[in-house]
Amino acid sequence: MNNLSLIEAIESRKSVKEFDSSVKIPRAEMEEMIALATKAPSSINLQPWRFVIVESEEAKAAIKDLVRFNTRQLETSAAFILVLSDNTHIHDIEKVYGKSVKLGYMPQEVMTTNVAALKESLSNAPESYIQMQGMMDANLAAMQLMLVAKDYGYDTNPIGGFERDEVMAALSINKERYMPVMFIAIGKGVKAPHDSSRHELEEIMSYNHGDADGIVGKSS
Ligand SMILES: Cc1cc2nc3c(=O)[nH]c(=O)nc-3n(C[C@H](O)[C@H](O)[C@H](O)COP(=O)(O)O)c2cc1C
Repeated sequence: MNNLSLIEAIESRKSVKEFDSSVKIPRAEMEEMIALATKAPSSINLQPWRFVIVESEEAKAAIKDLVRFNTRQLETSAAFILVLSDNTHIHDIEKVYGKSVKLGYMPQEVMTTNVAALKESLSNAPESYIQMQGMMDANLAAMQLMLVAKDYGYDTNPIGGFERDEVMAALSINKERYMPVMFIAIGKGVKAPHDSSRHELEEIMSYNHGDADGIVGKSS
């Protein structure tokens, strides 16, 4: 581990497009990184994130024609991590809260009251809301995974450019149940990544409210 400060990890994370293909990530290390990524917060702690680690030559070959302009990352990375959101995550309420009770984090009475209230409110929520919530939570874990990877000495590239339905079929993942969020290519970069610019703060933030036209930040 590099023992980077959080700020060092944030400053040094860049999207890397080419990796040292001789570097493999041991499964134990991959699992440590995923476990740390899942320390991310999630709506009512339902943890909808799921991960498929595409690391074998066979699995990579199965998605080779489906990752558009991202084949170099696929071919050279140690793994392509498919981050997914489980659309059925709201059915995990009892499991999640029951575990908290068992671990002594929550009194049984609180669980009983909360579970009933949450089930009631979620029963009226539209499916699109549940799916959006799942995507939001899974995105937080994905971001955290990229920072954790940096501390483990790896580089990453978040990848949204891929054929979603075909990738799900190629990797035998039920597309009715899971939504693909992004791939994260992971490995050791072979050369310094490009820097990328950011908007100026004044362009992207306002205090307390938008301007007279409802605009946030100074429009350019
Ligand atoms: C959701 C998402 C999808 C992305 N998809 C791709 C992609 O398909 N291919 C790629 O090379 N980079 C992809 N990127 C990387 C962005 O281009 C990159 O994050 C951005 O240019 C800023 O550069 P940085 O990550 O080095 O700071 C994606 C990033 C995000 C967050």
